[in-house]
Amino acid sequence: MKRITDPRAFIEAETRAKPVPHAEEIRLYLADEAMDLWQKTEEELGEMGLPPPFWAFAWAGGQALARYILDTPDLVAGKSVTDFACGSGLIGIAAMLAGAKSCHAVDIDSFAIEATLANADLNGVKISVEQADITAGDPPETDLFFCGDVFYDKTMADKVLAFLDRTLDRGTPVLIGDPGRSYLPKERLELLATYHVPVVGALEDSEIKKTCVYRLVPKTGA
Ligand SMILES: C[S@@+](CC[C@H](N)C(=O)[O-])C[C@H]1O[C@@H](n2cnc3c(N)ncnc32)[C@H](O)[C@@H]1O
Repeated sequence: MKRITDPRAFIEAETRAKPVPHAEEIRLYLADEAMDLWQKTEEELGEMGLPPPFWAFAWAGGQALARYILDTPDLVAGKSVTDFACGSGLIGIAAMLAGAKSCHAVDIDSFAIEATLANADLNGVKISVEQADITAGDPPETDLFFCGDVFYDKTMADKVLAFLDRTLDRGTPVLIGDPGRSYLPKERLELLATYHVPVVGALEDSEIKKTCVYRLVPKTGA
């Protein structure tokens, strides 16, 4: 039996609204610790094997992209953007605060979708949301495509990169924020910015992660 009847209330009760360390203009509902929240979500839903609560953390890649967007608002001003694998919605919120015309945020996790809506409200911006794995289909119509911290799992990374290639094929620029995860396609990146991003040490191998923003370049010969 499902006991979480109001996911928004659950998110607000189990996290705290606080500034993002590397993008302090933005506040998010964030957790201090993952395991208790993960366990509580599974207990409350009565389901085991749920994905970790990615939505309750500002990942290094997302923080770097958010910082880059806030510092280079011309990148997004007046444009439609997509925040793929949005988690907390941090990147989309940064884009809207920087003057984007609209943002569509996509994630497979229903809690990420709820967290993105809650965080958008917290920051006074509007974001449209979609809970789906869109990687098998056609890329969305959008002026800019953002991916924060998505190259940590091989199966996911392979699927996402093939999808991003189709996104590039239709002429949409793809920007990636990443701290050097295992499956980052290093040979396909143009460096735009480097930051040193505070993260939750218990989730990472250090308290500060060197994290870069890149533009994905087409395959050689493509
Ligand atoms: C490490 S978190 C990054 C969240 C956010 N972009 C950030 O940087 O803070 C990875 C996110 O990818 C989402 N995800 C995993 N596979 C996905 C897929 N096929 N399509 C969309 N989102 C996906 C997860 O649910 C999770 O929210």
